[in-house]
Amino acid sequence: MLNIAVLVSGGGTNLQALIDAQSSGKIKGGQIVLVVSSNPSAYALERAKKANIPTKVLRRKDFKTQEDYDSALLGLLESYQISLVVLAGFLTIISENVVSHYPNRIMNIHPSLIPSFCGEGYYGLRVHEEALKRGVKVTGATVHFVNEVCDGGPIILQKAVAVQQGDTPQTLQRRVMEQAEWELLPRAVSLFCEGRLTVENGIVTIKGEEQ
Ligand code: GAR
Repeated sequence: MLNIAVLVSGGGTNLQALIDAQSSGKIKGGQIVLVVSSNPSAYALERAKKANIPTKVLRRKDFKTQEDYDSALLGLLESYQISLVVLAGFLTIISENVVSHYPNRIMNIHPSLIPSFCGEGYYGLRVHEEALKRGVKVTGATVHFVNEVCDGGPIILQKAVAVQQGDTPQTLQRRVMEQAEWELLPRAVSLFCEGRLTVENGIVTIKGEEQ
């Protein structure tokens, strides 16, 4: 069993999707052993506690330097022998130093079809606001590995979701979560834990899935 840490900052609906998938045996070969929040009042922490998963709060602003924060995060991950780090709505930027300790072992869920509406400043509702402003008819979600480029790592899974006339950022966010994010993230985590993901030259291949 691989040990999984989920990093959160907010409501934690993606964390909930992972917890539910784990309860119904859909995460094969891995278990969530730690939830780390950048925000002490994140509802995600309640979800973790209800599922009896240990929690920890780590705030960047409580550390003098990036190095101090990185050491605290890395120390925590090492103490739980974490093999996979999942960013599920985590708003603190992960430094190159941390990424280099977990190459292709940190994954992130992003609420658009990368490379659209991504990169620095694109998070949460902001992503959907920009998609609506641009008038795209299709958006979606992406799960990708994290590298040193913000939202630039190898793409694992994507799913398209239709934009509807009259959508607000909130209605679109909800549809993207329901139809794409909550399905993609547990699936990507399971594929990783089953050892079915390989990355070569920035391209992810899924074993046993011929396209
Ligand atoms: C999700 O929509 C996730 O894709 C997004 O934040 C939301 C967190 O919701 N992440 C980003 O925008 C990352 N750039 P949750 O706390 O309910 O899972």
